[in-house]
Amino acid sequence: MPILKIARMGHPVLRAPASPVEDVFAPQIRRLLADMRETLADSGGVGLAAPQVHVPLRVILFSVPPSRSEDGQGLPLRAIINPVLTPLSEDKVTGWEGCLSVPGLRGMVPRHTYIRLTGLTEHDEPVDEELRGYAARVVQHEADHLDGILYPARMEDFGAFGYNEELERYPYAVAKEAK
Ligand code: NI
Repeated sequence: MPILKIARMGHPVLRAPASPVEDVFAPQIRRLLADMRETLADSGGVGLAAPQVHVPLRVILFSVPPSRSEDGQGLPLRAIINPVLTPLSEDKVTGWEGCLSVPGLRGMVPRHTYIRLTGLTEHDEPVDEELRGYAARVVQHEADHLDGILYPARMEDFGAFGYNEELERYPYAVAKEAK
């Protein structure tokens, strides 16, 4: 199982809408899921969408690290095929995001705080659940990839966009006060 090359911002596969998966058990989907898992593990990211590995299909992987979850438990890595998100609240919260396709950078992105996620598991079982907090954020980020949207397009304050090293050196709250 190879580690796949990750498409970077500017590549057209990241700007195009992805197509639905018709057969979750098709050999190429099984291979894609295995390769995406390996690629994500190698990258150290928390989520990955198929277009990021140059495959224009509606497949995402996501997880929630224990350190980012309210209950300290996190969510193990899982795949969702043909995900559909529905906001369950108008409320949005702004938080930092990074993306394997936008390496070295991070930005503050507003996301819905409470969403419904439907789709299929990798075993072709229906998914229908409600997500909040960091899980809701990660899924919105990954699902956006399936519609050709990268997180900078969701940003409202470009002062809160920069290289990780600089933002660690000069925390954004300080930069904001200095304006
Ligand atoms: Ni991303």
